[in-house]
Amino acid sequence: MPLPTPDDTDAYYRRHAADYARRADGIDLTPMLAPLLAALRPGSRVLDLGCGSGRDARYLAGLGHRVIGADPCAEMLALARAASPTGAPTAPTYVQARVPDLPFADACFDAVWACASLLHVPRGDLPAALAACRRVLRPGGRLAILVKEGDGEVDDNRRLCVLWRIDDLVARVRAAGFEIELAVPRPSFDERAITWLQVLASC
Ligand SMILES: C[S@@+](CC[C@H](N)C(=O)[O-])C[C@H]1O[C@@H](n2cnc3c(N)ncnc32)[C@H](O)[C@@H]1O
Repeated sequence: MPLPTPDDTDAYYRRHAADYARRADGIDLTPMLAPLLAALRPGSRVLDLGCGSGRDARYLAGLGHRVIGADPCAEMLALARAASPTGAPTAPTYVQARVPDLPFADACFDAVWACASLLHVPRGDLPAALAACRRVLRPGGRLAILVKEGDGEVDDNRRLCVLWRIDDLVARVRAAGFEIELAVPRPSFDERAITWLQVLASC
């Protein structure tokens, strides 16, 4: 069977949005967020790229940052909106969008947080995705990425997952015009036997 396309990946998240949210919302991502948070000023403008059910968008907004969550999956966004505090001055807002087609002005964010979302971008499309992230970041802005370690592109239940080696990922982030601040493997943050790669970069 051919590898899943981005449309197949979207269909996966449409089908599994509620289950995904139940699992993802219980995960504590604060250790992974710490390096990015240390680089942010109060009230920073943050794009949660591939926000899913909005766990991190809510957390970052709760810290006082101005957060937009973007995701191609309408079902995920509906769950994210439903879980966000209404009327709070710093509640995240949510936009249906996929990288590299980001409907935001140039240089309008201080940070892009891409947690387990760029892993769904086909390997050959990563340069365009990184260029889109750089375009929406102000000079000096931060890009934070988490992807899975490994080789190749795999079919995970009809979801495309692109696996990365850290040197290759770092080279591509550098080639997109970023300076690497941190590039480390991280143990799984849930029960799965996965090593994550975390990259924090500035532009
Ligand atoms: C593994 S989930 C991660 C969700 C959330 N960031 C989290 O950590 O719980 C991957 C998310 O990336 C989204 N996604 C897939 N392709 C994307 C793309 N090209 N641009 C932005 N988001 C994408 C999916 O719809 C899904 O919500």
